[in-house]
Amino acid sequence: MKIFIDTANLAEIQEAFDLGVIAGVTTNPSLVAKEGKDFFVMLKDLIAIVGDLPVSAEVISLKSEEMVEQGKKLAAIGPGIVVKLPMTEEGLKATKQLTALGIKTNVTLIFSSTQALLAARAGATYVSPFIGRLDDINQVGMNLIHEISEIFKIHGIQSEIIAASIRHSAHVIESALAGSDIATCPLKIIQAMIKHPLTDAGIAKFTADWEGSKLGSF
Ligand code: E4P
Repeated sequence: MKIFIDTANLAEIQEAFDLGVIAGVTTNPSLVAKEGKDFFVMLKDLIAIVGDLPVSAEVISLKSEEMVEQGKKLAAIGPGIVVKLPMTEEGLKATKQLTALGIKTNVTLIFSSTQALLAARAGATYVSPFIGRLDDINQVGMNLIHEISEIFKIHGIQSEIIAASIRHSAHVIESALAGSDIATCPLKIIQAMIKHPLTDAGIAKFTADWEGSKLGSF
């Protein structure tokens, strides 16, 4: 399973990119609004960091014709741009049209397997089921990843599953075990995945033993 970073914050993207572990970036209008920077300038700066890695950038219109126009503008920014569209009738129509133009799409705000199946059938490159937001309403978000993954496997569907709305590192592991292709995570979750108290204790012991030995110098 690949790891994407879910943020529009350039410093966080740079930090995750330098770790060498991320294979893409997802943004959404809320994340972009939080940064207070022009969307298009931000995307160009982001691409300067990640190059051709997939970067999901979301349309704002709710009408398919306008979504297609906005999608075309976004896609023109760079080859890695993936146009993110909401899971609505209009979003599906726009997905079909953008796919026909050879533009990659990510259908977002997916909360059921029927939505994921339809998004895939409309040609979505990626589908984004939101785990955490289902957990928030007392449903088991991870069941959705299991279901979509099974359906896609049985029917040979090529759309990639992005487990989104990840709230903790267990979500990442469970998504991987459930067959998700990608988990998109905030930086703090990627950082939490790095840490283990036994790693810290092991480093402290190795360092102390080495310093006490005086058996060479770098
Ligand atoms: C994914 O594409 C979304 O940007 C994101 O994962 C939403 O997460 P949230 O539910 O924490 O806002």
